[in-house]
Amino acid sequence: MIMQTQHLNMAAVDNHSAELLVILVPAGQTGFPSQAYPPSLETLIEHYKKMGDWHSESKYLLCINPPEFKALRILLVNTNLDIVKADAKRISNVVTDVLEQLNQAKADIVMPPSLPGGELLIQALFHASYKFSDYKTKTSRREEISVALLVSDDSLDESLDYARALHNGMSRTRDLANMPGNLCTPGYFAECALALDEQFATISTDVLDEAQLTELGMGAYLAVGRGSVHPGCMPVIRYVGAEPEEPAIWVIGKGVTFDSGGITLKKPPGMQSMIYDMCGGASVIGLMAAVAELKLPVNVTGVIATAENMPDGDAFRPGDILTTMSGQTVEIISTDAEGRLVLCDAITYAKQHQPALIIDVATLTGAQIVSLGSHASGLMGNSPQLNQALQQAGDESGDRAWTMPVWPDYQDALDSPFADMRNAGSQSPGMITAGCYLARFAGNTPWAHLDIAGTSFQYGTGNSATGRPLPLLLQFLRNYSNLSAPQWSINTDACGFLP
Ligand code: BES
Ligand code: MN
Ligand code: ZN
Repeated sequence: MIMQTQHLNMAAVDNHSAELLVILVPAGQTGFPSQAYPPSLETLIEHYKKMGDWHSESKYLLCINPPEFKALRILLVNTNLDIVKADAKRISNVVTDVLEQLNQAKADIVMPPSLPGGELLIQALFHASYKFSDYKTKTSRREEISVALLVSDDSLDESLDYARALHNGMSRTRDLANMPGNLCTPGYFAECALALDEQFATISTDVLDEAQLTELGMGAYLAVGRGSVHPGCMPVIRYVGAEPEEPAIWVIGKGVTFDSGGITLKKPPGMQSMIYDMCGGASVIGLMAAVAELKLPVNVTGVIATAENMPDGDAFRPGDILTTMSGQTVEIISTDAEGRLVLCDAITYAKQHQPALIIDVATLTGAQIVSLGSHASGLMGNSPQLNQALQQAGDESGDRAWTMPVWPDYQDALDSPFADMRNAGSQSPGMITAGCYLARFAGNTPWAHLDIAGTSFQYGTGNSATGRPLPLLLQFLRNYSNLSAPQWSINTDACGFLP
């Protein structure tokens, strides 16, 4: 979607030429109190009221060749006085549906007079315009929608830049996350990471290959990909937006390009949805692009913990004991608890690079879906302030996360008779157990974990990948860049990591 602002004196909106002019009408009114529309609009609304076509229950009304207006068509949309998120979503869907019905690609929208309604509407319009360019060979390509936002001042400019960067990042994430396992392999992730380096002068990418990961001692990371014919790698993407020596925020995404479960093979129904097990990695690609587009004054390093989890004669197996990069050993109970194995070594790698803090994003457990569904990502971490800042960013961006406890009490589920820990509990609360496992690797570095199993995709709906948690992460970075000296204290009572 192409979106631009255009200045307009609202009192002369009848003089504005357009194919489709969208006017928001608060229920029972003829305009917003602070935004004077011309009398011709009132006349028009009165006319349709008399006809019974416009009333308090009306959702929208399309008026063709309205008298005294230069626009060819006017789309009246009933709203609340304060445009909330649900209104914004509804308005956007009406606009895109009507454009489709009319076979038109251009709309001019009279923007609501105040924030945050305008900002929400811009974000919702972008969101409604996303279509996954799928792999059907017979497609009807529609022209890209172009929207002119009619505004009376410059107050929406920053909102538009932010929404555009967020949308571009989310589209990148969704396109990538929707790719199936035969096309999106660890090597493909590496190509995407290198493409960011090409596109942005502020980004530089290194792709660590299997030999380098072996050299680093990433025994857990490498075990996961051993059954796959696709060689493993670990892309590290650096964005420098602040002084180069300032510690970076490290964002690590789980990029398991297909999770068959490995030797602990998953059951067939639903296995195909494990092409989405790389949504965390795809979010990192989209986030880095958005941050670079916005030129945020922070340093951010993105890591894609990528591998394909397949059964094979050389695959790792239940009962194996692996040595992680941290030196801690892990007894494998299930090869299907593979996400934490790639993540733990990536976290150790990040820790060794003096990060300001570490956030990992992962479609980690089915238990997250059972607990919170698609309404909130599961948030866990070792710093109460960091948890709070992330949860707040989720609230502000409408991409919610909910903090789950990772108390020391939950750690016992990971006791192993042979190794320092095992990779899965039995009958334990799965989302929290996974969080507790990762906490052992974060140690005393500020760290948070987002389990996005239920929020990042919805299998079988066409536009399946949602682009979450990009809104939350970008909002967090936006807030962070405005903090002078953020402090994230580690609370060992809140999070029972082992020393
Ligand atoms: N990728 C899955 C989690 C998942 C399930 C994500 C459904 C999205 C939708 C993960 O690797 C997994 O298999 N987790 C296991 C862990 C268990 C073996 C401890 C799970 O949640 O069942
Ligand atoms: Mn798995
Ligand atoms: Zn997985």
